[in-house]
Amino acid sequence: MNALREHAEQQYAEELSKLAKVDTKTRPPRWQLSPWAVATYLLGGKLDDGFVVSPKYIGNRRVIEIAIATLATDRALLLLGVPGTAKTWVAEHLAAAIAGDSTLLVQGTAGTSEESVRYGWNYARLLAEGPSRKALVASPLMRAMQEGKIARVEELTRIPADVQDSLITILSEKTLPIPELGEEVQAVKGFNVIATANNRDRGVNELSSALKRRFNTVVLPLPDSIEEEVSIVQQRVESLGRALELPAEPPALEEIRRIVTVFRELRSGATADGKTKVKSPTGTLSTAEAISVVNNGLSLAAHFGDGTMRAADVASGLIGAVVKDPIQDRVVWQEYLETVVKERDGWKDLYRACKNHD
Ligand SMILES: Nc1ncnc2c1ncn2[C@@H]1O[C@H](COP(=O)(O)OP(=O)(O)OP(=O)(O)O)[C@@H](O)[C@H]1O
Ligand SMILES: [Mg+2]
Repeated sequence: MNALREHAEQQYAEELSKLAKVDTKTRPPRWQLSPWAVATYLLGGKLDDGFVVSPKYIGNRRVIEIAIATLATDRALLLLGVPGTAKTWVAEHLAAAIAGDSTLLVQGTAGTSEESVRYGWNYARLLAEGPSRKALVASPLMRAMQEGKIARVEELTRIPADVQDSLITILSEKTLPIPELGEEVQAVKGFNVIATANNRDRGVNELSSALKRRFNTVVLPLPDSIEEEVSIVQQRVESLGRALELPAEPPALEEIRRIVTVFRELRSGATADGKTKVKSPTGTLSTAEAISVVNNGLSLAAHFGDGTMRAADVASGLIGAVVKDPIQDRVVWQEYLETVVKERDGWKDLYRACKNHD
C-alpha cells in the first residue's frame, strides 16, 4: 500500500485483528468487535498476551464509552465540539472498529444535495433503460443501510435544512423510500450514523429539533490540562512522523511544551500563572493546529537543519497559526511577544526567532 493516507481500518489492521481474536465479549449484530474492544481500540491498552494497542483518543474515557454505547442502540451519535477536538478522528476510528469500514462518508457543505444523502441516478442508464435498481446510484448512507454498517456525516450543520430533513426518515423509520421504483431500502441490523458538528458554526444551519431528537449528543472537550494537551500533540506528531517518514529525531518535548503553552495562554486570555492578562486572537488555536506547527517545525529541522527542532523552526508556523487576521491578530501577537515571551526565563531564543520573522 502506498496511499498517502490510509483509512483507519487499513492503518490499524493489525490492532483490529488482534483485538478481534481476544475479544470474547458479546458483539451487537454485525459489529466486528464488542463495545469493550472498540473502547480499547480507541483509548489504547495492553492485551493479556502483552500486545499494545495504541491510544487514538486521549482524554476522558467515559466520553468514548457513552459514544460507543449510543451506537449500540437505535439512536444515532452526534459528536459536537469546537474545531480540532478530534470529532472527525473519533468518528473515523469508531466506524473502523465497529463496521470495519470508515469510508461510507457524506461530507456536509452548503452544497450538499439530497442525492448525496439518499440516492442519485446514472443518467445514461436511466435514459436508456428507464428507472431501475441498476440505474440507481446509492449514497454512502444507503449503502450503510444495506450492509449494516456505520455511515458518517461530516459537518452536519453546514448542510441546508431541507436536505438535513431527509435524514429524519432514515433515522426514525430506518428505511429509505424510492418512490420512482415503488420500493424501499430497509436498514439491516448494524446500521447507524455518526455525525459531527462544530459548535463554532452554530447559526449556519441550526439542527431542527426533529433531527436533534434522533441523536445522542456527545461533546468532545478541549484538553483540560497542559499535560494532557502536550501528550496529545506528542503522540500525534510521533505517529504522523512515522507515516510521513520524516527523518527527524523524536519530537523535542520542551519545544512542544512551549508551543502548547502559547496556544493555551492566547486561547484562555491569561498567562498560565494567571498573573498577566493577554488578548485572544480571532483563530481557534486548536490542538490540531498545534500538531501541525510541531510537524512543520520537525520537517524544517529534518530537511534544512541538523534534525533537532529549535525555536527558529517553529517560529513561522507559530506566527501563522496565531495571526489569521493580518491587522487585528498582529496587534494581539506583538503584545503577547513583548509582554510575555520576551520576559519569560529561557524563552529568549523563541523571542528572537519570532522577531526575525516580522
Ligand atoms: N483528544 C485528542 N486525542 C487524540 N488526538 C487528538 C485529540 N484532540 C485533537 N487530536 C488530533 O487533532 C487532529 C484534528 O482532529 P479532527 O480533524 O478530528 O478535529 P475536528 O474536531 O473534526 O475539527 P473540525 O471541527 O475542524 O472538523 C487529529 O489529528 C487528532 O488526532
Ligand atoms: Mg472535523
